[in-house]
Parts: sequence; C-alpha cells; structure tokens
Amino acid sequence: MVLIDGKKVAAEMKEEIAAKVKVLKESGSKTPHLAAVLVGHDGGSETYVAYKIKDCEAVGFKSSLIRYEDNVTENELLAKVQELNEDADIDGFIVQLPLPAHISEEKVIEAINPKKDVDGFHPENVGRMVISLPSFVSATPFGIVELLKRYKIETIGKNCVIVGRSNIVGRPLSILMSQKAINATVTVAHSRTKNLEELCRSADILVAAIGVPEFVKGNMVKDGAVVIDVGTTRVKSDQTKSGWKLKGDVLFDEVAPKCSYITPVPGGVGPMTRVSLLYNTLLAASGKIYK
Ligand code: GUN
Repeated sequence: MVLIDGKKVAAEMKEEIAAKVKVLKESGSKTPHLAAVLVGHDGGSETYVAYKIKDCEAVGFKSSLIRYEDNVTENELLAKVQELNEDADIDGFIVQLPLPAHISEEKVIEAINPKKDVDGFHPENVGRMVISLPSFVSATPFGIVELLKRYKIETIGKNCVIVGRSNIVGRPLSILMSQKAINATVTVAHSRTKNLEELCRSADILVAAIGVPEFVKGNMVKDGAVVIDVGTTRVKSDQTKSGWKLKGDVLFDEVAPKCSYITPVPGGVGPMTRVSLLYNTLLAASGKIYK
C-alpha cells in the first residue's frame, strides 16, 4: 500500500509556482494578486481563508482579505464583487462559501467575472470544463487529478466510482475523470444509489466525497483499489490543542490495508486543494485561460 503524500506534492507545486512568480517579477510583470472575501466568523471558513492568504505570501503573490459581518446585504456584497471585477490589480478572487442564508450564493457566483473566477465555480467555467475548453477548474477536483498524474496511477479504462455529487467536488471530478486525458469509466453515486456497497466494491478508483466521517468501510473496497478521501469533517477531540481533529470519509484503518494507493486525512487531498487555488491564480495572472 502506498500512502499518497499530498503534503509533499503540494509543497513541490508551491515551489514550482514560486519559481514562476520570481521569473514574472524579474521580467517586470505585475505581481499576481488574489483577493478573498469572507463573510461572518464561521470557524472553518476563517481557517481556510487564513491558509489561502498565508499560501499567497509563501509563493510571492499579493493578497487582499475583505471581511464583512454576517449582516452584510446581498447588494453590498454584489457591489464588492463588481468592484473586484473592475480592479485591474486583482487577477483573481474568491468569495468564501457558505454565505449567510439571506444571500444567494448563485447570484454572487454568477456576478464574478469568469476571467477572475479562480475557484472555477462560475457556470461559464463549469461549462467550458465540460466541453474540454480551457477553464478554471475548481480546486479539489484539480488537486485530485494532479495527485493521480504525479503518482502515475493508471486511469485508462479503470472503473472510477465517485460517492458524492456536489457542485464543487463530485460532479466536476466526474467530468474530469471521463475526459480524454484520463479516460476512466465513471459512476457518480449519491444518497439514492442502490447497492452502494457492491458498486463501491467494483471501483478500481474510489473517491469518497460525501462529508460523512468514516462512511467507507473495509467491506466496500476491492483489493488493490485506489482510494481518494475528500472528507474533512471536524470532530471534537481531547487529544488536540484546538479541541477538534479532521476526520475523512474513509475508515482508514480498515480500508488502507486493502488499497494499492490511499490518501490520508489530513495530508492527502487537503493540501492539494490549497495549492490548486494558487495554480489557478497564476493562470489568471498570466492570462492563459481566456486569451
Ligand atoms: N468553501 C469550501 N470550499 C470552498 C472553496 O474551495 N472555495 C470557496 N470560495 N468556498 C469554499
């Protein structure tokens, strides 16, 4: 069994990005600039956005954090999105989700200029991805595909079962895995899927992206399968300083001995998601997607 080291691959990618930023700066080009909009004080969102800002510093990007309280109106937020769309110094920006219930996430996402949509959430980017045009691809699916590539994991003709159909992970990943560069045969499973255990056992590549801790048990995995765990549920813990720890969607101790490759939580998909946003921001700054 090979433990897929997302932390190591992400660190390599960060070095590659930092080297490209250095060349850009030395050639007199502007410094790539990522902005993040954070509404409210959700613990998870605070942590993720803080990482995003820290990652920017690590590779030499400029970053801006724009904060609002929970009671910001939808119009105020949309006005900020418009301002960021028009700000020539900002190459890409994200609005951290979830947003408070009184704000339409769809409206906000659709207001983002697709050329600056480094999350890859705008329908234009999703649509372009579906028909294999250059696009910003959302960070977690991009990170997973990059891990498979860098570990040279065979995907051609393999059965890939993705458990979870979210707009930001399961569904876009299913498109990427079926594309010609990857050539897997993909099934998307969800809460209404029949015979889920049997279906999972048919997978050569099993992706767990449902957000239910330790959902995938040993009896759901075929011997020699590749297992990708996207879960990052925070559970209470008296063993950590923070009082919580991350749990994946896979019951690791039961599943790992059966696998050819498996991603741990933490240290698997998570670091790849983080670095993928940097990658997209560099693409945005270089004008490589929308020429
Ligand atoms: N909330 C959870 N993941 C993400 C992400 O990748 N981007 C944004 N904007 N919000 C999120």
